[in-house]
Order: sequence, then C-alpha cells, then structure tokens
Amino acid sequence: MDIYKDMDLIITNVKIVDANKDEYGIIIIEDGLIVSLDSASGAKGYRIINGKGLTAMPALVDTHAHFREPGFEYKETIETGSKAAVRGGYTTVLLMGNTNPPASSKEIIELVQEKARNIGLVDVIQCATVTSDIRGENISHLTSVLEATKFITDDGKGVMNDKIALDAMMIAKSKDATVISHAENHFFSNTDMRLAENLMTYRDIELARITGCKLHMAHVSTKEAIGRIIESKREGLNLTCEVTPHHLIGDNRIEYRVNPPLREREDVVALIEAIKEGYVDAIGTDHAPHSQEDKEKGAPGISGIETSFSICNTVLVKEHNISMSELSGIMSEKPAKILGIKKGLIKEGYAGDIVLVDEDASYIISSDEFVSKGKNTPFDGLSVYGKVMMTIKAGEVVYKGAEYDSR
Ligand code: DOR
Repeated sequence: MDIYKDMDLIITNVKIVDANKDEYGIIIIEDGLIVSLDSASGAKGYRIINGKGLTAMPALVDTHAHFREPGFEYKETIETGSKAAVRGGYTTVLLMGNTNPPASSKEIIELVQEKARNIGLVDVIQCATVTSDIRGENISHLTSVLEATKFITDDGKGVMNDKIALDAMMIAKSKDATVISHAENHFFSNTDMRLAENLMTYRDIELARITGCKLHMAHVSTKEAIGRIIESKREGLNLTCEVTPHHLIGDNRIEYRVNPPLREREDVVALIEAIKEGYVDAIGTDHAPHSQEDKEKGAPGISGIETSFSICNTVLVKEHNISMSELSGIMSEKPAKILGIKKGLIKEGYAGDIVLVDEDASYIISSDEFVSKGKNTPFDGLSVYGKVMMTIKAGEVVYKGAEYDSR
C-alpha cells in the first residue's frame, strides 16, 4: 500500500533560514514533523513545493495577540484571527484574556483552545487573567485556571495592587507558570504614559526577583524600560521580553492610539539596539483588531499580525543589518521557547511548521487586503520589503498567497 499522507511534503530548491542556519537545501516533513534527509522514509507521493527564489523559515510564533472571542466577535473571531495569523506567517499564537467573559475560568480557556483546534489553522495557547475578570481584586481562580494554561496576564490593564501582584507571582512560581506583564501604572495613564510603563516595569522586575517567578515583559516601548530589563538580564534574572513591530517602525510623529503609545525616536533606537545586542526575546504583534466605530471612540490598538513580518524584515534586516537568522531567532525560536513548544527551528523532530517568504519583494501595505476583521493600522500606504508567500502547519499548506503561483 502506498504510504502517501497529505502531511508528507518536500520543499525543494529553497534557502533555509532559522536561528542557527542560513543555507540552501531541501526540507522534508513526514507525519507533521521535520525529518532529516538521512532518516526520510522515501515514501512515494510526497507533495512537492518548489521553493525556488524563496526563503523557508520556521513559521512565526506570536507571544501576544487578541482574537476577541468570546464576546467581541464583531472585532475578530478565532476563525478570522487564525486566517489573519497564517496570512502573516504565524502558526502559533498566545492569546490575551481580555475577552467577554474574560479568560478567568478553565471553561473559557478550554472553549477558545477547542475552537481553535477545530479550525485547525494555528495552535492557540490561551492566557488566563491574573485577577478574576481583570478586576484587579481577586486571584482565587488561579489554582484552577493554571490547570488549563501556563500563562497569566491582565493585559490591557495590568495589576495595580502590589500585594495582589506579589501573591499572583508566588502562585505562578509554585505552578511553574509565566506572568506576562502589561506594564502600565494606571495612576499615570492620563498624565504620563512613560512613567506609567517605567514604574510598572521596575515593580514587576523586583517582584519577579523576590518570588523567582518567570516574568515576560509584554510590548516594551521605552528606553528606560528596556534599559532596566537589560540590567536585570545581565544580573541573571529569569526574565524575557517582547517588542512589537509598531514600536520599531512608528514614533510619536504618527498619530495613532495604541497602548503603550508610539514613543519618541530615541526609544525606537534603544529597542533596535537591544535587539541587535540580543536582549529582546520575541516580537509580539499585540494584534489588537477593532471595528472602525470603536477606533473612532478611542479604542487603543493596531491590527498587526498580517504586517509583522514585513515590518520587522524592513526595519531590522533591510535598514539595520540584522541577519535573517537573528530575525528568525526573535520571531520563531525564542518565542517558541517562552511558550515551551517544540517549534521555531528547522530541525529534525521539530514541528513541520514553515513559512515561505520572498525576502526582497516590496509591496505597499493596504488594510483592504487584510483578512482580519480589524482594518485598524497606521501603516496603510507604507512601502515594505518581505512578503509571506505560503504558510505550512504540520506539513499542511494553511495559507498560499496569490503571488506564490505567479512567481
Ligand atoms: O493597544 C492596545 N490594545 N493595548 C493593549 O494592551 C490592549 C489592546 C486591546 O485589547 O485592544
């Protein structure tokens, strides 16, 4: 009997880039996993993808996204978010819990993950909220929700009460969970958003030091915050951090509401420098789709998962000489490590999750082309380099751009 399976696939003639390699070759995926040339079964009937002129990287892994379900399906659903993710080259996303109801129960977490599994385009890990219903008051739900996920955050708000934040970290430590900090001290949100981020960054780092809990700093945007993170990493603290694409390309000359806000040019420079020096672990898109009406009413956020690769490739690789391998490190390998999954490298035994990109293709961002329901971006009309041509998950093609066939 022919042992052909849909999931068996060969990518030929392709430039292969991951955090550890940059070379030409062939990728073989069997039963959803990458196999080495030597151990390939040689089964007949592999699906062959001609990668000529393209670069194969491990599919991207997002440490920060909002798919809005349940409760805000008019902004995004798990299905439209998944489609947007694969169009952006992502096959794994960590979803924030500011849904309605919020992800404060095992039922909501399991519901989201189950829906995503049925859709089957991306692997979804759902965060739980740190405080029940993101009210900042009660953490009695934590023991139960930490049976369903290993990530907790009050993203969008943060935990104002220091004692509650400390207690939550102690529980997280005891369950080997990671706290994701949306660093914003609300007492300064209306007056000084820089102080708001900096103070909370300093506090959460100190609490992580005391508790020994794993801490991931979300969407770091100020030079002071990244400076303190670098110092703490040098001291050996168990700390990771992410930067968004929009904080790498946009500064306060662009008027667009997002939290944290687009900062000064010198902050952008500090973030890029930190990436160059290897202190940034992940690009997190903070994909935050909103309806036009909600944006007009002032909802903060950018629909960013479909433009993330192009923006990072343009700013980091084309403009700042960061290598494709380094880019792959912060868009796939290290985010996968943070999430504790065997993805993010093109290596035997790793997930057969691949993104095929044209590194040099230039195009103009148009939100009309987004498959996300959220068209909210300040980058409409921006010319960028690097196009996602195809996304493969466990050996199955989950996205193919029109440009792939017209090469
Ligand atoms: O701009 C933002 N939008 N920042 C956040 O932290 C939350 C997000 C949202 O949920 O829309």
